[in-house]
Amino acid sequence: MIKILITGSNGQVGAELIRIIRSSIDAEILCTDITQRTVEGDGISFEYLDVKSRELTEKIFEKFKPDQVYHLASILSASGEKDPYLAYSVNLTGTVNVLNACVKYNVDKVFVPSTIGVFGPDAPKENAPVRHSSIPTTMYGITKAAAEMLFQYYFDKYGLDVRSLRYPGLISYRVPPTAGTTDYAVDMIRHAAKNAPYICYLKEDTPLPMMYMQDAMEATIKYMHADSKNLTIRTAYNVMSYTLTPEMLYDSIKKFKPNFEVRYNPDFRQKIAESWPYSLDISDSKRDWGFSFRYDIDKTVEDMLANL
Ligand code: SER
Repeated sequence: MIKILITGSNGQVGAELIRIIRSSIDAEILCTDITQRTVEGDGISFEYLDVKSRELTEKIFEKFKPDQVYHLASILSASGEKDPYLAYSVNLTGTVNVLNACVKYNVDKVFVPSTIGVFGPDAPKENAPVRHSSIPTTMYGITKAAAEMLFQYYFDKYGLDVRSLRYPGLISYRVPPTAGTTDYAVDMIRHAAKNAPYICYLKEDTPLPMMYMQDAMEATIKYMHADSKNLTIRTAYNVMSYTLTPEMLYDSIKKFKPNFEVRYNPDFRQKIAESWPYSLDISDSKRDWGFSFRYDIDKTVEDMLANL
């Protein structure tokens, strides 16, 4: 049975990842986070871990001796702008601590999500490329862009099999996301499910790349199973399903909830959204590890409303 360590396990991705790991692999899972345990089940245990602490990180690795690591602990774009130093410490110091521990304790494979936030306003808006020299404008994007270079560095220098996907906005119903810029999509559908009107913090015509969580998790597991020899990218691969604007989402929701109402009141997140691409070039992901997705906008909305 393989041993899998997850950091940031209580976040939006963690709850979903645990489910898909358990349905696809026979694994013993150690969940870690700075907040209290929320996941129960056979073969799943929980420990407190603040990845900012190198000492604590190594202690957990030494005790559990994981074969694989999913390092999800991260501060996202909007909360990162409120506390840039915290974003720096969690996203970079924390990531270096985890990567070092992976080398020290001979971890086979480590997954660290990256983001569309690594692109800045200078990047192409359509089909943003995998290889780029764009300059991100948020602390979140800066730390993730630097982290991508660390993935390549740890692969080249230590042979550590680090894998990363640039997640777009992820739409999911289990655990609400924590202060990203793309989260309006989840919020809007949650309001619709409660038959409550929604005030959107982005302008109606703001396009961003998005994906349903189910597709993101299936892609992640498929990518983690891919033969290392086929992976030509060692920074991070692009993934996305569709470009979404708040207005497109509203139109889709209205098909299921005809009386739903939205007002627009853009805040500081508008500028962040405008610095990101509308779509990403996913051709390397399709070629190297067979990336695909199933949910379009209407299917996403339908499934979200059915589950909320
Ligand atoms: N969902 C993230 C954010 O909005 C982007 O990767 O911060």
